[in-house]
Amino acid sequence: MSNSRPIGVFDSGIGGLTVVKALRDLLPNEKIFYLGDTARVPYGGKSASTVERYSLEMTDMLVDEGVKTIVIACNSASAVALPKLEKTLSVPVVGVIKPGAQAAVAATHNRHIGIIGTRATIKSGAYEKALRELDPKIDISTRTCPLLVPFIEEGWLEDDLTDQIIARYLEPLVREGVDTLVLGCTHYPLLIDALSRALGEKVKLVDSARNCATAVQELLDREQLRTPSGTSGGLEVALTDLPDSFLHVARDALHLDIGEVHLRDVLHPAPH
Ligand code: DGL
Repeated sequence: MSNSRPIGVFDSGIGGLTVVKALRDLLPNEKIFYLGDTARVPYGGKSASTVERYSLEMTDMLVDEGVKTIVIACNSASAVALPKLEKTLSVPVVGVIKPGAQAAVAATHNRHIGIIGTRATIKSGAYEKALRELDPKIDISTRTCPLLVPFIEEGWLEDDLTDQIIARYLEPLVREGVDTLVLGCTHYPLLIDALSRALGEKVKLVDSARNCATAVQELLDREQLRTPSGTSGGLEVALTDLPDSFLHVARDALHLDIGEVHLRDVLHPAPH
């Protein structure tokens, strides 16, 4: 099998493009095939069984596209579906939770880490599990921030209202004394400036997109799956429904060259 096959990246919608940006910066020779489930976004408020079923369908579609590895560029999907995907997929798979947990444990001094994310991610307890595997004595404070995704999708990245919501969500975490905050949602790196402003220099931000890209690089090296040098990389974007205005928000904020967007039908299991 050729190593010049693309890396498949899957997200519930457009937010995973933050991971694509990190992958393009770190691995410019690699081709990326991005599949966003815009027909069924958001995943963050849905039940674990639904998110798992959607994730299996989307990753099957990526395997059919001939990808060499799959990146789950969605915290909600990584949190609930990764263990099943690791067992069932025919290609190696990387999620965003473990790389984020590793970076947070490396960054904290007072061993008190905050996690923000969608309801699905926080409720799964996946970050706590990953953090405690690395350091059983670590203190963890979590907060669901369901309003942040719609504000980001609206493009309100620099806005007083967004700043107020951030302050309200983060205030308890700051009061509890976290010195490191994991951005446990692939949308949140788009708010990095507003979050840094709200938290000041004392709290370190862990961006799961960048750490996930490093984990992909390590996996490609370990499995000898790096594309031959001299190959030019690129990005192909496919969505399960028409893109909305958030695609433009993400493209402009991330300076990504997206080109033509393709449509894919969500697979339906064959009737028995
Ligand atoms: N991209 C999702 C995540 O990282 C957030 C959007 C959603 O709720 O689907 O959790």
